[in-house]
Amino acid sequence: MSAERHVERPTVVVTRKLPATVEEAIASRYDARFNRTDVPLTPEQMQQVLRTTDIVLCTVTDKLRAELFEGVVKTRLLANFGVGVNHIDRDAARRAGAQISNTPDVLTDDTADIALALILMTMRRLGEGERHLRSGAWSGWRPTHLMGHSPHGKTLGIIGYGRIGRALARQATLALGMHVIWYSPRDPRVDDATTAGPANAERVESVDALLARADVVSLHCPATPETRHLIDARRLAIMGSTSFLINTARGDIVDEYALTNAVRDGVIAGAGLDVYEWEPTVVAELRDMEKVVLLPHMGSGTIETRTAMGMRALANMDALVAGQPLPDLVAF
Ligand code: DGY
Repeated sequence: MSAERHVERPTVVVTRKLPATVEEAIASRYDARFNRTDVPLTPEQMQQVLRTTDIVLCTVTDKLRAELFEGVVKTRLLANFGVGVNHIDRDAARRAGAQISNTPDVLTDDTADIALALILMTMRRLGEGERHLRSGAWSGWRPTHLMGHSPHGKTLGIIGYGRIGRALARQATLALGMHVIWYSPRDPRVDDATTAGPANAERVESVDALLARADVVSLHCPATPETRHLIDARRLAIMGSTSFLINTARGDIVDEYALTNAVRDGVIAGAGLDVYEWEPTVVAELRDMEKVVLLPHMGSGTIETRTAMGMRALANMDALVAGQPLPDLVAF
């Protein structure tokens, strides 16, 4: 009789549909269950998964609140597909013995690209122009038609000077000739020139000082209790009627009702958004405004980056199983 031992593979639940190559790689190494419906799990389903599964590959659409970690939790790793982990109650996960990893670096350039695109779209009124043409209203070229504002020579204020903030700083300097000022509570002190901000970017001492000087403000800070509604009615008023707000970070950094009022009343000039406070719901009035550009949370949405994010999550799963330190452990 053969003495062959059956080695059980760790169980994994992948909560949303991933690029095919990533799902294939996971299936080849794990006892994996995939979400073929691509509909977010209910809290009840998620709690059941946490009770019965070694590893959960989750996303921003999984609201992993404290109560889901009550009772027995089998999960040892929440391998998050994305950088931001504000949808996970980190204390509750830690108490339940689950580590968290994320997928930094690989999505930096694509997310910065979307911020850059939103700067151009809002300042140059590109969404409005496209809607105008598609509606059949375009009567031909004329000198004063759809005039926007030029980004060249304007000041871009970046709040949060991590990898994505610095990538946008480089791009906006080179591609749009903007002058960059930035605010971050800590100095990232980057030695590597390829990931550093432009040499002439200026650090400013406070959020308010940045808002007072910037023609365009772009948010790149994490969503934490401290940054919730960082941009509120008072701060929108500091920005002023010729300034634009760009948000590709997280929705609840901005008070969405205050933003809606500010754009409607001309307190600021306009906004370009990829993320929303109550995603996927968007304040109805915003959707009717020409002065805002609204994208459906697609910052990292290229096949190259979404594949790289999946492979990065997989590398963290493999490290856990091999008993090695997680390459992208999210510190508690
Ligand atoms: C990120 O990486 O934070 C993206 O927004 C997806 O979660």
